[in-house]
Amino acid sequence: MNKKIHTICLSLLVFLVFSFPSFAEEKKENRYMGSDSCKPCHEAQYIPFMRYARKSRSFESIEKMKKGLTEDEIQGCYACHTMGYEKPGGFISPEKTPELKNAGCEVCHGPGKIHIETEDPAYIIRNVTIDICQECHIEERVQAFRYKPIIYAGSH
Ligand code: HEC
Ligand code: HEC
Ligand code: HEC
Ligand code: HEC
Repeated sequence: MNKKIHTICLSLLVFLVFSFPSFAEEKKENRYMGSDSCKPCHEAQYIPFMRYARKSRSFESIEKMKKGLTEDEIQGCYACHTMGYEKPGGFISPEKTPELKNAGCEVCHGPGKIHIETEDPAYIIRNVTIDICQECHIEERVQAFRYKPIIYAGSH
């Protein structure tokens, strides 16, 4: 290839990579941060959520019932009663990730680390859809899951 064209192509590529910060952002690892980390910027959602949503205390439900359950059975509760269990950057154990032991903002909005660092709404889920709820509010549990009327009931 003509050397001059080659150099032009190369500098164009370098220019493209550096002029789109999102290229670099996407490589950063996202992870769950816990509801308290949203408070400084979203008090209007945080306060009613912590006060009224049972999710904000969902780990207590495990603790209340864990007597007589095996360790495996208790871990079975984590999928729905904690935040991001078995997902990248999610709940591991109450000792290692105490800030993620209750189901919080990020079960609906997705992991918040990059959003918090950038304050960019593009890095958080806004359009919360019913399939997100159904990961935990599964068919057998809720006979008639009427999404519209209750969408705000579990949130804020
Ligand atoms: C350092 C401040 C800051 C923190 C902390 C923060 N956010 Fe945000 N968030 C913002 C800003 C700024 C916006 C854009 C607001 C706007 O456009 O009106 C936003 C917007 C949003 C939106 C709407 C997105 C959209 O597309 O309109 C959601 C949902 C959201 N944040 C959730 C969260 C959650 C959940 C957390 C905690 C994990 C969190 N935020 C933590 C600053 C923050
Ligand atoms: C598939 C998801 C899922 C799993 C797994 C799960 N739960 Fe739940 N749990 C929910 C949902 C959703 C609710 C609230 C809505 C409802 O009552 O259906 C709930 C509610 C509860 C409540 C409150 C009941 C009430 O009416 O006050 C308790 C206590 C509870 N769960 C304990 C547990 C324990 C203990 C385990 C593990 C042995 C467990 N859950 C496993 C999703 C789950
Ligand atoms: C049960 C699911 C759920 C949980 C939990 C939840 N949200 Fe939301 N959030 C929603 C829904 C649904 C919307 C409305 C989205 C739309 O506009 O369609 C929303 C919207 C928002 C918005 C955009 C402004 C608004 O009010 O429309 C922000 C900011 C936000 N949530 C922050 C939070 C924070 C912070 C927490 C935790 C303290 C939280 N959310 C917990 C479901 C949830
Ligand atoms: C990661 C699992 C998970 C997801 C995703 C989830 N929920 Fe929940 N939700 C729970 C658990 C667990 C409880 C019960 C907490 C307890 O009582 O211990 C609950 C409780 C509720 C309740 C009971 C009322 C109250 O005071 O909290 C409503 C309503 C609800 N969720 C609506 C929703 C909606 C709507 C969505 C989707 C936008 C959703 N949830 C997504 C796990 C989840």
